[in-house]
Amino acid sequence: MTDPAATPLYPLALRLEGRRVLVVGGGAVATRRVPALLDAGAEVVVVSPRLTPALTALVDAGRLRWEPRTFTPSDVDGAWLVQVAIDDPVAAEEVSRAAEERRVFCVRADDRTRASAWTPAVTRHGPVTVAVLGGGNPRHAVAVRDAIRDFLDARPDVADARPEAGAAPPETRPATRAESRPRERPESGAPVDGADAVARGGGWVALVGAGPGDPELITVKGRRLLGQADVVVADRLVPGLLLDALRPEVELIDAAKIPYGPARAQEEINKILVDRARAGRAVVRLKGGDPYVFGRGGEEALACAAAGVPVIVVPGVTSAVAAPGAAGIPVTHRGVAHEFTVVSGHLPPGDPNSLVDWAALARLRGTVVVLMGLKNLPAIVEVLVRHGRPATTPAAVVQEGTTGQQRVLRCALGELVARVRAAAIRPPAVVVVGEVADVLATVPSASVER
Ligand SMILES: C[S@@+](CC[C@H](N)C(=O)[O-])C[C@H]1O[C@@H](n2cnc3c(N)ncnc32)[C@H](O)[C@@H]1O
Repeated sequence: MTDPAATPLYPLALRLEGRRVLVVGGGAVATRRVPALLDAGAEVVVVSPRLTPALTALVDAGRLRWEPRTFTPSDVDGAWLVQVAIDDPVAAEEVSRAAEERRVFCVRADDRTRASAWTPAVTRHGPVTVAVLGGGNPRHAVAVRDAIRDFLDARPDVADARPEAGAAPPETRPATRAESRPRERPESGAPVDGADAVARGGGWVALVGAGPGDPELITVKGRRLLGQADVVVADRLVPGLLLDALRPEVELIDAAKIPYGPARAQEEINKILVDRARAGRAVVRLKGGDPYVFGRGGEEALACAAAGVPVIVVPGVTSAVAAPGAAGIPVTHRGVAHEFTVVSGHLPPGDPNSLVDWAALARLRGTVVVLMGLKNLPAIVEVLVRHGRPATTPAAVVQEGTTGQQRVLRCALGELVARVRAAAIRPPAVVVVGEVADVLATVPSASVER
């Protein structure tokens, strides 16, 4: 193959909807690349003896096909594109040879000089997608992409194609890198600017809320810190497209993959955060929704504080409010609900370890939002009705809220268990109980099941 830096590339955008893309490998690289392929509507087939938990979750959700074995050349038949996500050069060469023979473009994670196609560094702004190639230098591509992203963040009118979008007023000029750095005061001491701490050779940990599922619902600050990270420790529920945008050299640790039970696993995560930060690295602990809403973020903040590691907390958009909101359910509404209560349903009512007063909740007039409540839904509905919440109360369940897979089911509280079972609703989902579930029923919503 010719020197990739010497021959000009022909840039192209692919329509992958309904087209098969073969991914060979089921590790960290595949975990980063697959979400963008699925987002483009590709029919993804992963060939690998093993998968990461994040990819396993996509298989369980029926979003991709998994062939649990090693590659054979006929796997390329029928594919429009091949992504080699393994680092064994001999095995990777076998895949790209099979692709070349069949005239199928092939991207290689192990050696881009041997690939027939490259993936650019990408930033998306509404309808505009900017893809950058760095002449064979992915770090350069990412740096240029980040500069363009910062510019478009500061000048959303430029990416907005509406005819009325005009020149921005002078005060909306793009922030410089220095201006846009985080200025935070950590729990454990002096004011911390994440970038400054790194410049001083000191590491830090940022507990960043990734939002409920739509990758655009991370905060601007969260995304900036993600762009500065050397290490990202990600939960299972974080939007995959955020991982796709990471710099290639970022160490990505899948927290769901850490063995042991929940208590030991949490200790292990705390240790990873502290050890990496003490080694001078910029660590982002990326969590679904908000890090302090049933996210064990508090334990991680305490562990870092105890170790003298600076912690930056970046709140996130919690699914408790966002999933109902995306389904057309406001958790409060004037004249209807003046309060909303968010509870965890992971323990059933009556469990000696449960800290929720379900009887008191049943007597409230406002909205009750239950997270992690599907497994114990029959007991939750029973206790709410027994203690006074009418069985006719409007209720809803929102599965995978704010994502392309969002499903919404609405019915009376008394029918909820049977309807959820019949519709095969599965986690992650939030349950909403209260008059607000119906208050915007006349506003059209694409994904409502009645
Ligand atoms: C361990 S809790 C973490 C909550 C998260 N910290 C937050 O603020 O959204 C996980 C639960 O959040 C809810 N959840 C998270 N993402 C969701 C989504 N996109 N749609 C519906 N529910 C979601 C589900 O109840 C899920 O079982």
